[in-house]
Amino acid sequence: MGLKTTDQAIYKLIQKEYKRQNDHVELIASENYVSRAVREAQGSILTNKYAEGYPKKRYYGGCQYVDEIETLAIERAKKLFGVAYANVQPHSGSGANMAAYHALIQKGDVVLGMSLSQGGHLTHGMNLNFSGQDYHFYSYGVTSKDEVIDYDEVLRIAREVKPKLIVAGASAYSRIIDFKRFKEIACEVGAYLMVDMAHIAGLVAAGLHPTPVGYADIMTSTTHKTLRGPRGGIILTNDPEIAKNVNKAIFPGLQGGPLMHVIAAKAVAFQEALDPSFKAYQEQVVKNAQCLSDGLMKRGIRVVSGGTDNHLLSIDVKQSVGLTGKDAEAILDSVHITCNKNTIPNETEKPFITSGLRLGTPAVTTRGFKEAEMDILSSLIDKALRHHQDSIILEDVRKEVIALLKKFPQSLA
Ligand SMILES: Cc1ncc(COP(=O)(O)O)c(C=O)c1O
Repeated sequence: MGLKTTDQAIYKLIQKEYKRQNDHVELIASENYVSRAVREAQGSILTNKYAEGYPKKRYYGGCQYVDEIETLAIERAKKLFGVAYANVQPHSGSGANMAAYHALIQKGDVVLGMSLSQGGHLTHGMNLNFSGQDYHFYSYGVTSKDEVIDYDEVLRIAREVKPKLIVAGASAYSRIIDFKRFKEIACEVGAYLMVDMAHIAGLVAAGLHPTPVGYADIMTSTTHKTLRGPRGGIILTNDPEIAKNVNKAIFPGLQGGPLMHVIAAKAVAFQEALDPSFKAYQEQVVKNAQCLSDGLMKRGIRVVSGGTDNHLLSIDVKQSVGLTGKDAEAILDSVHITCNKNTIPNETEKPFITSGLRLGTPAVTTRGFKEAEMDILSSLIDKALRHHQDSIILEDVRKEVIALLKKFPQSLA
């Protein structure tokens, strides 16, 4: 019996969420719409199977088919990123980062990562996160002038604190990351280099952001952002010793049974990303982000660092329109534009309030938006933020957003 009959409460809420996803413009930089094939794999009977261990080395019987599935996922991930070893079992990006730390360093070791308030991730040393509690994190940030990573400062801090590990990668950084420079700094101070490419993995796979391969000792990623797969993580390396430590760190170190349905969905997503159409998609993602950024700047909205090279941008709503990020997020939500408040460099507000918004284009690009729609969107965002006290204007904007979306129906069937 289907869900509709057995569990009305959950069924109805999924229908409501389906409607929300369909009639809101999705600008959360870390979200995307996966293909039907990815959802089919993830919703399959593979969820029934226990498979602790790795292909051909399992602690359960009946693993012959899931072994083939995991092997395909590994081989596709290796091909996609051009690496020798891939672990496709991490349940999430955070878990992948935890395993990467376990594989490389000891509790209490010194690590240098990007400051959360300047664009880094919780798992890069935030004090309430396991990373900040288990390791001695120091952080680097961006220059106050250009708002790009301050590599001289990274080097200065690295020389001073002598980290065992340097973490590059971010959740809210719109510029190309210079992995070569990070590697030189890591080499100078004798540190490992880890690249958390969760946000930009799709761009890296498509050759639209320089690859960390060849510079990073270890790479982690989520599979659900620009990569457009199911929610989950991966860990990649070219070093056989590190690969062994990663495998041990994931199982039996941190996880029990792998989520075979999710691993199958990852394999499907990697196959999709190997198709030439994925490169065209990622090119459009970047064009759309640049168009959104240009459209907002020409209307007087300050974009952090003056633009974007990737799939996202941060805007300074406090300086531009006198709103907090929290209020701006709520105003845009009321006109069916979904995004998230975010701290910006030299933030003066609390993390739950913020002065900025983070906007990303992976989901709207999947939906079919191109430059023309991004320009319309920038004008609608600008209008809603500037006229947030005028309910008639907000209602007009909401109607325009819904009319725009109707041209790009999102099939969730
Ligand atoms: C850079 C970065 N690393 C790791 C993660 C964690 O991923 P997850 O939410 O799957 O734990 C994120 C998610 O936002 C991220 O942006």
